[in-house]
This record gives sequence, C-alpha cells and structure tokens, in this order.
Amino acid sequence: MFESVDFEEPWRKVHEWPMSLAWLSASAITLAVTATLPVPTRVGVATSLACLSFAAWRAAQAWVRSQARGRAVEKTRKEFVTPQELISKQKPGLLWLGKGFAWTDIEARKMHALIGKGLAKTFGKEFITDGAHWLHGLSSEDDVYADLGLLEGHTLIVGSTGVGKTRLFDLLIAQAIARGEPVIIIDPKGDHGLASNALKVCEALGQPERFVYFHPAHPERSACIDPLRNWNRKTELASRIAALIPSETGADPFTAFGWKVLNDIVNGLIATGQRPNLVQLRRYIEGGPDDLLLKALRMHFKTKVPDWESRSSSFVKQFKGNQLLAYIAFYKEIVIHEAQSVDLDGLISTYEHNREHFQKMVASLIPILSMLTSDPLTELLSPDFEVGHDKLVTDMARIIRADKVMYVGLDSLADATVGSAIGSILLADLTAVAGDRYNYGIDSIKPINVFVDEAAEVINNPTIQLLNKGRGAGFRMTIATQTFADFASRLGDENKARQVLANTNNKIALRVQDAETQKYIADGIPKIKARSMMIRYGHNVDSNIHDAYSASYQEQATEEEADLIPPAILSELPPLHYFARLSGGLTIKGRLPILHAQAARKRRV
Ligand SMILES: Nc1ncnc2c1ncn2[C@@H]1O[C@H](COP(=O)(O)OP(=O)(O)OP(=O)(O)O)[C@@H](O)[C@H]1O
Ligand SMILES: [Mg+2]
Repeated sequence: MFESVDFEEPWRKVHEWPMSLAWLSASAITLAVTATLPVPTRVGVATSLACLSFAAWRAAQAWVRSQARGRAVEKTRKEFVTPQELISKQKPGLLWLGKGFAWTDIEARKMHALIGKGLAKTFGKEFITDGAHWLHGLSSEDDVYADLGLLEGHTLIVGSTGVGKTRLFDLLIAQAIARGEPVIIIDPKGDHGLASNALKVCEALGQPERFVYFHPAHPERSACIDPLRNWNRKTELASRIAALIPSETGADPFTAFGWKVLNDIVNGLIATGQRPNLVQLRRYIEGGPDDLLLKALRMHFKTKVPDWESRSSSFVKQFKGNQLLAYIAFYKEIVIHEAQSVDLDGLISTYEHNREHFQKMVASLIPILSMLTSDPLTELLSPDFEVGHDKLVTDMARIIRADKVMYVGLDSLADATVGSAIGSILLADLTAVAGDRYNYGIDSIKPINVFVDEAAEVINNPTIQLLNKGRGAGFRMTIATQTFADFASRLGDENKARQVLANTNNKIALRVQDAETQKYIADGIPKIKARSMMIRYGHNVDSNIHDAYSASYQEQATEEEADLIPPAILSELPPLHYFARLSGGLTIKGRLPILHAQAARKRRV
C-alpha cells in the first residue's frame, strides 16, 4: 500500500547522483562503441553528447538536492538565541514559538505516505536513528507565532526528561518579561538555567531590579516571602496549610481536625491584633493555645465588658489565681450572654479538647509546620524583621502589582517533601490573590504569567482552583510535566488529574515516551483522511489447458481515516522538537532554539 509521493522531502536520499553517473557511463560507452565498431561517427558522437547532457542535467539536480539535504542536516543541530535576539522577535499580540510550520492534513498525508513507503528505505538508515527529524522536512519552516490571547486558556507542556520542557519555559518566560508583565516561576527541580536566563532577560531589558530570587538552598541571596500574607476570608489560611497534610482523600478526620485547630488559632491571632504566620501557628499547635487564649480573653474583656476586672475577681479567687481557668469560667458564665465571640468559642474548645487526643489528631500537622519553620525557612517564609534590615521581604500580591519576575527554586530533588510543601503553599497564596482580583475587580489590566515546571511535584487543590478561576482574574498558567500519571498519583485521584488537564486549552508535546500520555495528547485531535493506493498483480497458468495463461493488474485508491498526529510518533520527536495543539484548533510542528547569553554562532554545537 502506498501513495505516490509528489513532494520534495529534503531528507530523502539523493537518487540523482547514481542517475547522473549512469548517463555519464552511457556517454562513455557510446563513444567506445563508436570507436571500435562500425557505427557512423556522427550518430555515435551525437548520442554520446545527448547522454552527456542528461548526465549534466541530473548532476545539476543532484547538486540542488544535496544542498537541500545539507541544509536539512544543519537543522538537526541545536540552535541558540540570545535574549536580545529573542526580544527583537516580539510582535504585538503574538507569541513566538521557535521555527516551524502549521501542521495540517497536507503534512499529515505526506507523513502517512512516507511511513507507508518505508522510512529507512526513503531516508537511509543513518537519518532515522536520532529522532524523526524528517517530520520537520514535510513543509518549509519559518518563525511561528501564536495569538497571545490563546494563553488565557492555560497551557500544558509534556515531555520526557531532557527533551526541552525547561528550555521552552525559558522562551515563554523571556517573552512574558519582555511584555512587561508580572511573571512567577515555580521550579521544583531548581534548574539553574531557568533562573539565570530570566535574570539575563531582565538585564537585557535594562530592568534587573524586576528579578526576585527565592531559594531555600541559598538563604543569603534569597528574598523572603510570606505565604500567609494574602487572604480574602480568614478560613483560607487554615485551608492553605491543611492542604499540605498528607491525606488519601483530603476529607479524613485528621485533616478536618487539623483545619479546625489551625482556624481557631488564626482567628485568635487576628483577634489579638497579630498577623498569622507559620512560626506563630507552629508555636500554638505544638505548645497548645493557652497563652493565645489568655491574651484573647483579656483583650475581649477590655473592649467589650465594662468593669471586667472587678467582676472577674471572684472567679480568680475561685480558681486560686489560675487566670486562664478563671477567665474561661467568667466568659462562659457571664460574658457569653453580653458579648459572645465566635473566635473565643473556637479557641476555648481547642483548649479544652482532651490533650492526648489533641496531640494524636495534630500529629501529621506538626512535622509539616516544623519543616516550614526550621532554619533557614523561619526567616524566608515567616519574615518579621526590624525596620532597616537589608533583606527583601515581599508577597505574591506585591510581586504582581510591581510587575516583578519572581523565581521560586525548590530543589525538591534534595528534599522532596519540603520543596513540594513550599511550592504548594505559595501556589495557594497565588490562588488567594487570584480570588481577590476576581471578586473585587482586577486591579491592573496586565495578565499574570505563572509557570510551574515539574508541576506534578507541587500541584494541589488550590492550584486546581487557580486553573479554574484564574482565567477570569487574568492569570495565564503554563504547567509542565513528564506524564499524566504523575498528576494522578500526586492528587490521589485520576478524576482530579483530568480536571487539571481539562483546564489547559493549549497543549505542547515534546518527545513523550509514556503511551497513556501520548494517547491523551492525540485523543482530542480530529482525524484526517489519508489516501492510499493498493496495487495488485496476478497471473495464472492452467496446467491442464495448453496455452491458457491469464494475467491481471488492479489499482485501487482508498481513503482511510488516519491520525493528524499518530500517538506513537510523539515518542520519535527529536529533543527540542514539538507538536503544539492550540485552543483555536491550530496545530504547529516546531523546533526550539536554546536561550543563551552568548551569540548563536559561537554556541553552535
Ligand atoms: N546550554 C545548553 N547547551 C547545549 N544543550 C543544552 C543547553 N541547555 C540545554 N540543552 C539541551 O537541551 C535539551 C533539553 O533540556 P531541558 O532542560 O529543557 O529538558 P527538560 O525537558 O526540562 O528535562 P528534565 O525533565 O530533565 O527537566 C537537553 O537535551 C539538553 O542537553
Ligand atoms: Mg526541566
């Protein structure tokens, strides 16, 4: 089964060279025959010259083909682009996606025809070992641009390890920085190039002050960021930390109890005029809320109960000077009827809870809080500095308002649990900012670009919310992962993983080895009709009847349904080559240069 291939594929073998050689030999043989046999000299020479001109014509064709093949081979090398070059490629309203072309049914038909013909036969074995570069020869490449508006539908990048996810991030991040928009980069793997490239782009734009670096492994250089700074409702803070409790379903009694205790303490802190931070929460959960409750009771009495000191003195006597017990009794018997406080009710119930049971129920919360508050994270995540210190203290809302570029390196390879807890809590903080913009009107018209590399390491329920409602709040999320199974195992539920994926309208697939992930990418793409030609020869000799010989020849053209992008072809993409399926239905085949500060010519390898 094959279809005649009526296009020039720059990768194919140069068949014109042997043809030229054949014509050249024909010319020589003709001359030799003319010289040795009695052939009219004129006829012989004329024939030889005719053969020679055919040889020259074929040689010229062969030369052009060899040049094209040479250029195609050149394109298999890595290419580099400097921040300046990348900035100069910017066009208003468009996003540059490297070099490539629109992948339509025309290219797909060519691909199916070539696969039918046999790839090794067409290109030679040596050209199909290092990934399917030939796919990129199916049309002529140019700079590819996508409409920026499409990014509002969020973008998913998939690819096995080392195939170019982070380098694609470099290009997308650089363009977001060049557009002057706020950028937040969450990098659980701590890819060195990602941070330095973002900084270099800021420098190339003459705005190095926009870059904010956060990295627990480099506390001396790291900015401080308070993940509990932004909230719309007080209950969000408890939810943000409770989401970190390891749980199968997120709805078990331990998570629920942990949430209640956190919420009571948050309310107590706010009621006593303190800003909740991780260190405070750890202190009152580990040591019990006694001090906080005493302070909250006193404060409540002071503001709401006239003559509280004289009225409570009988209770103090009754409890032999134990102020806390005395005030609780005073509150419960007297104050509750005059000035009840829900915050105090909650704190009192937490205080009165059986201590042993309390410790058991918060046992999974304590290690998380300890992790997030042990050095150097005490300073980095719960900043509370004197005026005049030299550390940069910020939070997500400020980063967004000032169009900063914030890089959050987590190095979860060294300590996966801490890294993913920090990533998750910062994403939850972002969700609160998104909610704020969504509920109270967007405070700036600029979109907010959030890039999460190795997203399966940090994704949590608040992030799903961010994907859901972020669009209305001007968030453009780009998340990268190796496989979908990673999402499902992180979220503990395949449906939730699907929810994440359903919220990303643009999909960019680099080389993908995992069959399920390949299928997911290819699934939503409509099929095309690929034409194929069937040729049948037959002949028959009847041994009984003398001379009875019959022969047949049949050609049949059929149209069959075929994939625009066959799932398996994704595993053959060379590194840095991709297929993008954008929300408008446009499919692109492209290849990416590597963002590098040095000039492209010098860096070519
Ligand atoms: N400065 C550079 N010079 C040459 N090649 C590079 C450079 N930076 C990256 N590469 C190459 O680019 C390819 C893609 O690297 P990248 O870091 O983007 O992979 P990735 O998909 O993010 O992988 P991982 O899952 O391991 O993070 C790799 O093959 C790497 O060798
Ligand atoms: Mg990477």
